Amino acid sequence: MPTLSLNDRTVSFESGQTILEVARQNDVAIPTLCHLKDARPTGGCRICVVEVEGSDQLLPACATPAGADMRIFTDSQIVRTARRAILEMMLASGAHNCLLMDQPESSWSESQLAIMQQPWHDTICPAHGDCRLQDLAIEYEVSVAGIDQKIDGHPLDDATPMIVRDYSRCIGCGRCIQACNEVQVNAAIPSPYGRREDHPNGWYPLVDYENCTHCGQCLQACPTGALFEKKAFGLATGSEAEKVRTTCPYCGVGCQQWLHVKDGRVIKVTAVEEGAPNLGRLCVKGRFGYDFIHSPERLTHPLIREGETFAKLLGRGPGPGGREVQTDQTAPRPRRPGRHQLCPQHQRRLLQYAETFPGNHRHQQH
Ligand code: SF4
Ligand code: SF4
Ligand code: SF4
Ligand code: FES
Repeated sequence: MPTLSLNDRTVSFESGQTILEVARQNDVAIPTLCHLKDARPTGGCRICVVEVEGSDQLLPACATPAGADMRIFTDSQIVRTARRAILEMMLASGAHNCLLMDQPESSWSESQLAIMQQPWHDTICPAHGDCRLQDLAIEYEVSVAGIDQKIDGHPLDDATPMIVRDYSRCIGCGRCIQACNEVQVNAAIPSPYGRREDHPNGWYPLVDYENCTHCGQCLQACPTGALFEKKAFGLATGSEAEKVRTTCPYCGVGCQQWLHVKDGRVIKVTAVEEGAPNLGRLCVKGRFGYDFIHSPERLTHPLIREGETFAKLLGRGPGPGGREVQTDQTAPRPRRPGRHQLCPQHQRRLLQYAETFPGNHRHQQH
């Protein structure tokens, strides 16, 4: 098996592994942003650069194959300086003001004050406490205090009930594109090409809703607050919610989920990255269909019919048929609203039908 030197330690590796894979299997941390498990490496963000002896430039660990006898330094001064510069550029390119929140407004620049006036920005970033970019900014001691951040020209898409796409916090990592196109194979985010500077208005991973299944895989892949769940906005940040593992109740696949619970309420659902069978994937129902849990119409107890009403079935006992039933009928069966009603659109259509065909008794009844 070939070997290489990793921070002056000799380690072995298998042919075809990247420097990042070799580092991870030897517990050496290299930061990543654009790298997405199960997708081909793009080398887009460059935050994973490492120093390789003999190379005249820093190389992206996620996209560079390990080679025999390489001497690699993953945390040298030159590497840290490069990563800091990359982080500064990313933070300055958009509305990343989370780390200013505990500083006096008198120290904010004009653009930073203006950020708070933008839609979905009147409170702290929804990714605060759970943002890969923020973690790295803290680790590498990068600050945006007082600098002018770019806040104009970013698209904002909040047209769907599930996801807000706020590209003022997009770092162009491309993970959402890969999550959609390579992991879920929905091909709903057309891949951009070329540098942003080559496009008059920049390129952004905008969604083609003809193909989008609203699975939210892009949301789960985003390492910043650029994509966030509309329903969960403002309900919790970082580790405020407790994560409870469960199995999706919707179908027989048995996808593994994390329920994010705060004050006894489920406020968000994400997929368990390492959990079989879904390995980090969810469909639209599993990810967003959790409102029913707290619906006042939800059945929380078995019911038994008693004439025209229903009573709670308390359990086996001496009652009729070996059952003990509550007979005060305090639990009338909740009815779906509109179950025996027609929606306004159908009512209109049927009235039109009845006027057109007045002799049709069946439809005149409505
Ligand atoms: S996306 Fe991350 S770095 Fe940017 S404002 Fe939100 S929490 Fe901060
Ligand atoms: S919600 Fe799913 S289908 Fe739609 S863009 Fe995101 S990953 Fe693609
Ligand atoms: S929206 Fe998020 S995942 Fe997509 S490119 Fe921007 S930062 Fe990356
Ligand atoms: S994580 Fe390697 S280039 Fe982005």
